[in-house]
Amino acid sequence: MNIFVTGHLGYIGVHLVELLKAAGHRVTGCDLGLFEGCEWEPFVRPDVELLKDVGDVTEGDLEGHDALCHLAAISNDPMGDLNPEITLSVNRDKSVELARRAKSAGVGRFLFSGSCSVYGAGEKLDLEETDPLNPLTAYAQSKIETEERLWELSDDGFSTASLRNATAYGHSPMLRIDLVVNNLLGSALSYGEIRIKSDGSPWRPLVHCRDIARAFVAFAEAPREAIHNQAINVGGNQENYQVRDVGDLVKQLIPTAEVAYTGEVGEDPRNYRVKFDKLGKLLPGFKLQYTLASGMEELHRAMVDHGFNKIDFEGDRFVRLRTLRDRMEMLSPASAV
Ligand SMILES: NC(=O)c1ccc[n+]([C@@H]2O[C@H](COP(=O)([O-])OP(=O)(O)OC[C@H]3O[C@@H](n4cnc5c(N)ncnc54)[C@H](O)[C@@H]3O)[C@@H](O)[C@H]2O)c1
Repeated sequence: MNIFVTGHLGYIGVHLVELLKAAGHRVTGCDLGLFEGCEWEPFVRPDVELLKDVGDVTEGDLEGHDALCHLAAISNDPMGDLNPEITLSVNRDKSVELARRAKSAGVGRFLFSGSCSVYGAGEKLDLEETDPLNPLTAYAQSKIETEERLWELSDDGFSTASLRNATAYGHSPMLRIDLVVNNLLGSALSYGEIRIKSDGSPWRPLVHCRDIARAFVAFAEAPREAIHNQAINVGGNQENYQVRDVGDLVKQLIPTAEVAYTGEVGEDPRNYRVKFDKLGKLLPGFKLQYTLASGMEELHRAMVDHGFNKIDFEGDRFVRLRTLRDRMEMLSPASAV
């Protein structure tokens, strides 16, 4: 198949390009390169590379593609709090416009990178796709509003699906350490301290970034009826953890590190445990390759090999928010939707 991937230079995107090419697909990547210079390791490039804003992608760019995996976004909650307008402009308005153009260009499938953060402070634990959504941030709100518009665009010739991904962690050539697991490993290696910013009690569903990429491949290759017009949680029932459990796993890997509760975010209201039964029912052949323990072990090894230290932890390179602050002017305005 010919597959168009946006955000192909990001933490998850670099895995996705590699996996799609390995599966024999022809890949076009489109990314603005917001994190150019932040690379940790070399990675596989797509067959065709468009270095531009997704808001500037034309129908001509999209013609001839069978599916589009849309990952480009302002990708974290704190960034959305800093500038909600930009988060909504990129994550919602440009996504919806891209989907419209894809539909007009005859792309059959639009796979959106959604998020389990749409559940926010869950009223109950073990949230399913049909449960009420409770967004706590502009980021989560942008994902919900995009989904709603995608369902309106779906028809017999155009299938949309939202992969509501759990919080990612793990090794990627475009490393991020602003994600809870990677952050705790990074702080343990840099300071000998596992710095937990909450009281450690919040639940989070966690999934390896490469397993998210594998899910996109599975969604691109799945029978249409399995994914058409569906929001599907991506992760595993056994992969919900309390932040303090993550701290304990870091301690097992780095026994000299001490757990420290800094309490700097106060009581973290983002608390959600998620069920992933629908994914198993609709795509029975898809299984996660990583558990949190195996993914953390892999990342720990890579960080040690790279000599990961305080300079890496305190610098801008692996923290999206810090890099983006100086690069916001790269983003073009969204067209009205
Ligand atoms: N990492 C997670 O924990 C997680 C969890 C759930 C969902 N997601 C979603 O998955 C997607 C990818 O996340 P990631 O962790 O790889 O993020 P990332 O920040 O590493 O990558 C995003 C990429 O999108 C590009 N981009 C941003 N705005 C763009 C624009 N307007 N035009 C073109 N390119 C643009 C950036 O340059 C970057 O390379 C995002 O949609 C994110 O919201 C991520």
